[in-house]
Amino acid sequence: MINDPYRPQFHFTPQQQWMNDPNGLVYFQGEYHLFYQYHPYGITWGPMHWGHAISKDLINWDHAPIALAPDEHGQIFSGSAVVDEKDTSGFFGGGAGIVAIFTHHSQDPESGAVRECQSLAYSSDSGRTWTKYSGNPVLADSRFPDFRDPKVFWHKMTQQWVMILAAGQTVRLYTSPNLREWAFASEFGEGEGAHIGVWECPDLFELPVDGDPAYTKWVMLVSIGNDPAYPEGSRTQYFIGQFDGTVFKNEAAPEHIQWLDAGRDNYAGVTWSGIPDEDGRRIYMGWMSNWKYAQVTPTVGWRSAMTLPRTLALKSHNHVLRLVQQPVQELNALQTNTFQWDSIQVNPGTNPLSMLALTCFKLEAVFELGTAEEFGFKVRASEAGETLIGYRPGTKELFIDRSCSGDTGFHVDFPGRHTVQVEAEDGRLYIQIWVDHSSVEVFAGEGEAVLTDLVFPQETQQGMGIYALEGSVQLVSLQVSPLQRVVSA
Ligand code: FRU
Repeated sequence: MINDPYRPQFHFTPQQQWMNDPNGLVYFQGEYHLFYQYHPYGITWGPMHWGHAISKDLINWDHAPIALAPDEHGQIFSGSAVVDEKDTSGFFGGGAGIVAIFTHHSQDPESGAVRECQSLAYSSDSGRTWTKYSGNPVLADSRFPDFRDPKVFWHKMTQQWVMILAAGQTVRLYTSPNLREWAFASEFGEGEGAHIGVWECPDLFELPVDGDPAYTKWVMLVSIGNDPAYPEGSRTQYFIGQFDGTVFKNEAAPEHIQWLDAGRDNYAGVTWSGIPDEDGRRIYMGWMSNWKYAQVTPTVGWRSAMTLPRTLALKSHNHVLRLVQQPVQELNALQTNTFQWDSIQVNPGTNPLSMLALTCFKLEAVFELGTAEEFGFKVRASEAGETLIGYRPGTKELFIDRSCSGDTGFHVDFPGRHTVQVEAEDGRLYIQIWVDHSSVEVFAGEGEAVLTDLVFPQETQQGMGIYALEGSVQLVSLQVSPLQRVVSA
């Protein structure tokens, strides 16, 4: 349905019905695979399958048939996929293939007891068809009712597979020579980071610091489920530290909490495996929603989109390490033309962008702080409402305000203003904003501060504005690039 006003034009969405977490992100022989939690028979969460899509560039996705459906062990919850290059599993007759490692979830109809265990499926034809392993499950532990979302990777130094999965409010690590037999290695999380909901969808990977391959750290992502006590709903935290193949050591103070995204709609994100060393990128994608209201968003016939694919990197800044995110460069291909402005003084009451009307675009701006108490952009604006992306130099707060962004009435916690602290470097603020039919993603500086928010504006909300309050601000440069719709949308 091309005329659907909320249907994203350059973000991944299922053709129809309900989607949640990205699963099994793997690159194999020139193709990126995206599997996802999928309910094919409704637009709310239901018996989970793995939907599937394939792309050569992370942007244009071909929808593929459902890869995994529920079976005698239960529903197919979140998990990962790896390229088994040397056929350690023995599934591929000595060649290479893809192995998916996922959670089987079931509930006893009488006692109500939940059982979660880890299982395998494999594909010898580049992910087109899947066979479930006859020895499933490969990892079970009845002590943990929440025992799910395995992320598996090959640990080069110790030459073994490592699995990290969520167990209640910690993560557990296991190792294996062949993906079929798993030995417990360690547990992480007690007294570390945020514990305001069940831990889910962990990931663990190594990243060079400032691009230096000789100096690396390990990053752990942990998503935290929706505890009704917190208005933020579901969010993702991260830890930076060391990993020796067995134990992860957080190098920050245990009580120090670091959020991956200060917006409300980036959850259960994980990274691609199998990306060749020559490429070297660590590419991330999250589910662009929040369990708080995910099932009542005002879309028709389909629900939920993924975030833009983003590269993750570690940058040191004043001796502090930061995880930075940038949209992948493949997205540049969506730009048709660019409007460019240099040196504009923005005063209260002026709007240099009043002639533009756009619904899908990228905006890149460098501001030099002036006397304005607050300045920023209005996007998807009309008499009916607008989304504000602003900065307040006094409090160093960058924010998205979606209080009047369009349809906000479907859940009490949807409208609101979401903030993150950003330092202007030498008095300058660099921001990049990606706007699609129902989302706004803001990246500040090198990507050390990110806000991802859903919005549901009316189709007629196409106006744009730059604003300044109580003083002026200098716009050193501004580029506005309309973005094309991609094939799979
Ligand atoms: C996260 C999550 C996972 C689980 C899946 C079920 O959003 O709750 O922990 O595997 O969704 O759909």
